[in-house]
Amino acid sequence: MTSNPSNRRRVLTGITTTGTPHLGNYVGAIKPAIAASRDESFDSFYFLADYHALVKCFEPERIHQSTLEIAATWLALGLDTSRSVFYRQSDIAEIPELTWLLTCATAKGLMNRSHAYKAQVADNEAAGEDPDYGISMGLFCYPILMAADILMFNAHSVPVGKDQIQHLEMARDIAARFNHRYGERFVLPEAATDEFVATLPGTDGRKMSKSYDNTIPLWLPEKKLRKAIMKIKTNSQEPGEPKDPDEASVYAVYAAFASKAQRAEMRQAFSDGISWGEVKQQLFELVNSELSAPRERYEALINDPAKIEKELNQGAERARAIATPFIDELRHAVGIRRLD
Ligand code: TRP
Repeated sequence: MTSNPSNRRRVLTGITTTGTPHLGNYVGAIKPAIAASRDESFDSFYFLADYHALVKCFEPERIHQSTLEIAATWLALGLDTSRSVFYRQSDIAEIPELTWLLTCATAKGLMNRSHAYKAQVADNEAAGEDPDYGISMGLFCYPILMAADILMFNAHSVPVGKDQIQHLEMARDIAARFNHRYGERFVLPEAATDEFVATLPGTDGRKMSKSYDNTIPLWLPEKKLRKAIMKIKTNSQEPGEPKDPDEASVYAVYAAFASKAQRAEMRQAFSDGISWGEVKQQLFELVNSELSAPRERYEALINDPAKIEKELNQGAERARAIATPFIDELRHAVGIRRLD
């Protein structure tokens, strides 16, 4: 396959540029991705999914600001851009081009089964609306664009939250159908989810997500971070009462940041009746100790957008060095060829 001559395993993930990075993004995607980027046996690809942002966000300023914040976040957290390819989706014109080739190899029925799409239809029906009310073709075809992101670089492994597993299955389906039609072109990618961190609960106990408005922003100043952690919902059990860690959001968040030994100790403290206040204080200290040094680097980067832009341009150049010859091969494979 021309797209990967070195044959090293490839890890790839993207973050949609619609919001301010929160602890859920950090734990579920950014942290494992940066760890993988240090592993010499992998090649890693990380990108800002700004085309995906257009599906759900119609505020241009917000998309722009979010792109800046997310890029600064990855750099502040120590992404090594000399080893991994770090780029903005919209800088790679080959991606929307591949999206069309894939769209023509995607069964509409496959998209009909998308959880995100079906949930919207169900909401519309419950509200007595037309089933397609408010559903754009961007939303409907979202999984095809995501498949193009992944297949463009023939990624083997895609670190994502559990909610994205279906999108990975769809990417595999689409790749397999394309391969069947046009010869072996694409690696079939797999989702990589870590059992401790796949989804982090938010302050209300549901999955931490900007759509639930229950997030803890990653770069809160220390005092605000503590305040936000203190607001995580618990039950009304008193100090001294044994508590069940597996029922507690605070424990789930703690577990995502803690070492194995720290997790075991905290589980013991739960059965010994630690107070919620004390759990939260320990959680704050754990999270803050991990984030305080990167927080300073983040502040510096946010104030130097030209530096970020330069990094992204270099990343785009390296990504296109792969994407350009590969899209040429794919165009040829489907019959779009020069006439002479
Ligand atoms: N859909 C992903 C999310 O909402 C973001 C994303 C877009 C992505 N393209 C991707 C993730 C490709 C992994 C690979 O989290």
